[in-house]
Amino acid sequence: MASQETISLVLRLAVSVAISYVTWRAIKEIIEPNRKEKQEAEKRSKQLLQRLGIKTTVKLSDHEMFVAQNLVEPDSVGVSWEDIGGLDDQIAELRRTVLMPLQKRPDIRVSSLVQPPKGVLLYGPPGCGKTMLAKAMAREADARFINLQLSTLTDKWYGESQKLAAAVFTLAEKIQPVIIFIDEIDAFLRVRDRGDHEVTAMMKAQFLSLWDGLISDSASRIVILGATNRPQDVDDAIRRRLPCSFRIGLPNPTQRLMILRKILAGEELSPDLELEIIAAQTDNYSGSDLQELCRKAAVRCYLRAVAQNDLQLLNSLNDVNVEETGADSRITMEDFQTALC
Ligand SMILES: Nc1ncnc2c1ncn2[C@@H]1O[C@H](COP(=O)(O)OP(=O)(O)OP(=O)(O)O)[C@@H](O)[C@H]1O
Ligand SMILES: [Mg+2]
Repeated sequence: MASQETISLVLRLAVSVAISYVTWRAIKEIIEPNRKEKQEAEKRSKQLLQRLGIKTTVKLSDHEMFVAQNLVEPDSVGVSWEDIGGLDDQIAELRRTVLMPLQKRPDIRVSSLVQPPKGVLLYGPPGCGKTMLAKAMAREADARFINLQLSTLTDKWYGESQKLAAAVFTLAEKIQPVIIFIDEIDAFLRVRDRGDHEVTAMMKAQFLSLWDGLISDSASRIVILGATNRPQDVDDAIRRRLPCSFRIGLPNPTQRLMILRKILAGEELSPDLELEIIAAQTDNYSGSDLQELCRKAAVRCYLRAVAQNDLQLLNSLNDVNVEETGADSRITMEDFQTALC
């Protein structure tokens, strides 16, 4: 009898513990609905910080951890200075004015006045290499690089946009020297956009005011790098904060030749292909138009090689060795001329 009572007591106890646990989980879910996303973001950020060699002694808040997901691993960036054609002057200037003062050589006594500009703007028509330049900077800068996405700051699960905006700057402070890259900055910070949700508008205003704090802090080594193809849409509030600007315009014939050489490096080209002529014929082409042109020419060349291969296959009882038809797989002047039509 006594043992039956004990069993029933234990059972009741177990049921009440289970109910309490389920209730506690449900309450937690209501209080903190985005807990899972937060945990996942934190895990991702921790792994990233570890790979970047950011010391575990740097304590980051939850919000900073969330923003840290935007950090870029230099080795994972597929673009280097060498891949960019025709922008040697701009690259040299970016290195001189932004990267060198940002890094500071430990072996040379440096005046405290040596500072990178707090804001840099890359502007110019679409497809001319602004994003490419930023990517190459991420790889070559020898500084941390945050590729800041608006979606990170307006994350619907995370909420608290203003706290996230603040976290961008406090995180940057902790891991400097750092470049904060904002692509399409006109869309990112169009403060007086009537279509903006109120929270987003407040976050943007907060971002601008924090940016002011950064500008007035002369010792910080944090650069905000913006890119836009609509400089006319970048309002004065942003322009004022980006004192250093680089125009990345449509390439001239010499630059087009350099871009073509970069795009076609490693390709098999027919000796009859004169890239100087293609460069002269492609007035008003952007780098991305040239990339598309090369793609079309390469596809035509491939189709031609396939047709020739199949023809030889039909005409011969023996298997055709693709190596033997290698000469046909080289991109010719005609491939380009057809692609240009
Ligand atoms: N200077 C260049 N050298 C080599 N390739 C280039 C160059 N400029 C553009 N390209 C090619 O065009 C593509 C688009 O370039 P990118 O994304 O940098 O343009 P963008 O200036 O950022 O354009 P948008 O204003 O539309 O964002 C690149 O991925 C590359 O293939
Ligand atoms: Mg771009």
